[in-house]
Amino acid sequence: MSTDYSDRNPDLAALYPAHIETLKARHDNALEKSGAGHAVIFSGKAKVAFLDDRSYPFVANPHFVAWAPLVALPLSYIVYTPGEKPVLIYYQPRDYWHSVPGAPDGYWTADMDVRIVHTTDDVAKHLPVDRDNCILIGEIDDEAHAFGIDRVNPTSTLNILQYARGTKTAYELECLRLAARRGAAGHMAAETAFRAGKSEFAIHQVYCETVSQTDNELPYSNIIALNEHGAILHYTDLDREAPADMRSFLIDAGAQVHGYASDITRTYGNGDARFGALIERMETMQLEIVNRVKAGVDYRDLHVDTHRLLSEVLNDVELASGDADTLLATGVTSAFFPHGLGHLLGVQVHDVGGFMENESGTVIDPPSGHPFLRLTRVLEENMVLTIEPGLYVIDLLLDNLHGSPAESHVNWDTVDALRPFGGVRIEDDVRVLADGSENLTRDAFASLQ
Ligand code: GLY
Ligand code: MN
Ligand code: MN
Repeated sequence: MSTDYSDRNPDLAALYPAHIETLKARHDNALEKSGAGHAVIFSGKAKVAFLDDRSYPFVANPHFVAWAPLVALPLSYIVYTPGEKPVLIYYQPRDYWHSVPGAPDGYWTADMDVRIVHTTDDVAKHLPVDRDNCILIGEIDDEAHAFGIDRVNPTSTLNILQYARGTKTAYELECLRLAARRGAAGHMAAETAFRAGKSEFAIHQVYCETVSQTDNELPYSNIIALNEHGAILHYTDLDREAPADMRSFLIDAGAQVHGYASDITRTYGNGDARFGALIERMETMQLEIVNRVKAGVDYRDLHVDTHRLLSEVLNDVELASGDADTLLATGVTSAFFPHGLGHLLGVQVHDVGGFMENESGTVIDPPSGHPFLRLTRVLEENMVLTIEPGLYVIDLLLDNLHGSPAESHVNWDTVDALRPFGGVRIEDDVRVLADGSENLTRDAFASLQ
């Protein structure tokens, strides 16, 4: 099993040409329906902080990264004209203040007509002359970067491309597998650091060292949460001191390979039998939901099914009592599990297109009462998505149950006992197959045993 993350990875080299053919077909379709002859895709520009001369970390246009694994190449363009090799206008400034991108090198160069430019003015020479026949895709906050192209990010064009991005090419699947492996290695090292009594900050450092990525290269900010912090869904504070009592550890951390993300959560206890039993029960439930993933399943149903299964968990661990209908209707399951079951995953950790019914952009709303669900589509082969149920003590939400019909269904003593542990989330990245799924995350952990 390959763990070669480099541009020389022979598996990626073999798969990339077919990926480019798929992208061409998607853009042919988008251009034809948009009545345009060329797609011009801008990589983006680093933003400068207010009243400062420092840039925020550069985040490349995902439509650019889908063409080529160039996550750190600002002010560059891909120009695609149906029937022609894509042109990559590769911006390599003459700059002695900052490092400049090196010479184009790697598996992706053979399928691109690479044109190196040293000034932004030179970009114009490589753009189609008929700007009115172009569509520009990218974040344009300075007209100079549009080079006279008026049609910028037409919704109908973006809808076609973003709907298509819901299913992954074989090349993308391999990048996602590599990202899962890289993330799983970080998770294993982080668990060891937790068992050694390290602080959140120190665990984070071990994670970054293991995956060999800086904070800015990670696909999202790591959630490294000890004890009660596990109940803060997007906790990113990183306490410098280890707590005296290490009761629990929730880590939601991914890694990136050629722009593709993993998004993995694990929760660990530290000897408390009740919390250990809750983690086991949640893991069984999470795997039960993963088992239901296959083409043709409506993800909204999976989300609601999870609430029903969670009601059984709540009964089993004596956090609540009542049947599924009652615990759903009274809002008990939502108070313990207030986020969506998961989302599409790809070149963005919350990949676009999760609400799209078709390439026209018809929106599929989440089920009523579940506003935070980010994926509402019927599953198709080669979609990659997360399955990430959770159960937390979030007082802001549980307090709302007092004085409502839900109150009598909650065992408040067990809530008090669980509060110091924060919560549990278990998150895997899963590829949809015709009659089942491939679990990228579990395969990755298994490959590292
Ligand atoms: N790490 C963000 C998420 O799980 O969606
Ligand atoms: Mn996550
Ligand atoms: Mn996620």
